[in-house]
Amino acid sequence: MFSKIGKILQFLSEYMQDLWLCLRYNGYSPLVDRQKRLFYKIIIETHTIEKGLSLPFRRPLFGRDKIRFVMSSLDGYDPSFSPLPAEMALGALESYLRFHRDGSIDDPILDEIAVFLSRWHDKYRLTTRGGVKSVQLHGDTGDARPVLLQSRVSLRMFDGKALPLDVVQEVVRIAQSAPSQCNRQSSQVHLYQDRSRIDELLALQGGSRGFSKHVGNLFVVTSEIAAWGGPGQRNQPYVDSALFAMCLLLAFHSRGVAACPLNLAITNKIERKIKTAADIPAGERLAMMIAFGSTLSEPLRAAMSPRRHVDEILHMHFGISAQ
Ligand SMILES: Cc1cc2nc3c(=O)[nH]c(=O)nc-3n(C[C@H](O)[C@H](O)[C@H](O)COP(=O)(O)O)c2cc1C
Repeated sequence: MFSKIGKILQFLSEYMQDLWLCLRYNGYSPLVDRQKRLFYKIIIETHTIEKGLSLPFRRPLFGRDKIRFVMSSLDGYDPSFSPLPAEMALGALESYLRFHRDGSIDDPILDEIAVFLSRWHDKYRLTTRGGVKSVQLHGDTGDARPVLLQSRVSLRMFDGKALPLDVVQEVVRIAQSAPSQCNRQSSQVHLYQDRSRIDELLALQGGSRGFSKHVGNLFVVTSEIAAWGGPGQRNQPYVDSALFAMCLLLAFHSRGVAACPLNLAITNKIERKIKTAADIPAGERLAMMIAFGSTLSEPLRAAMSPRRHVDEILHMHFGISAQ
């Protein structure tokens, strides 16, 4: 009895500590360095512009508020913190401008962007790395594994058709090569190919605006909570199912099938709604959705999503610890 109460108290203590860590260090916290907050904010908001540019049917003058937000945030940002947000935002704004100029569209926002770009280019000589890129689906690339890894992209140009079940099964079988803690394989994959159900689930997800109508296949990737026990394991369902989802994305890519992960950064209330709509047992934790399928005919476009410089994320801890 006492050991059970002790366990519950330990859970509460861990969740309280999680809460503190989250409140202290999350992206809204005023206690976090402003440049670091801007770094992530500009990348995230710029990515929505890139995404808009990568969609099959691009709405003229989409995302004006976002564009103004990115420009004003960039004006408060110091590229010496990391050049990436600026490189990415300037590239996306250039692509936005090119897309509209090519379509002979005129609007004051386009002039604002042009002035902003020339001001930034005069002030900082940065290489731009944002916007969209062309994509070719290669299918199985044999033994060229780094090529397979580095050529995967999130594609959002689906043809809306259901993929044959044998292809889906093969992809899931390949993804089962994912590692899992103690090989417990708690990850579950729920498949939807029915239009109305996909629409309902994507409306709850909310991150596929602009291409949701063309999604003909949808996975919800989950982890069975029963596989995990004890306060130390409280976040492990996400770890195992994220690794599994990554393997699914690579498996799709190896078979020449387009795929796009879709976040489930949701409240418990929305999670429950999705579980009900998707017929997913209450005892599973939702990790993410994946939209996938065949694509529209080429040319295919994808958001550029440039990567950080390796030095920004590789921290080499050589020598003896100071403690
Ligand atoms: C967990 C996760 C959630 C994501 N959610 C969305 C989403 O809701 N909508 C979307 O269009 N893309 C989503 N993406 C795709 C990212 O935008 C994309 O992976 C990122 O820009 C890197 O580009 P790449 O996948 O083409 O390399 C998500 C990716 C991950 C890993």
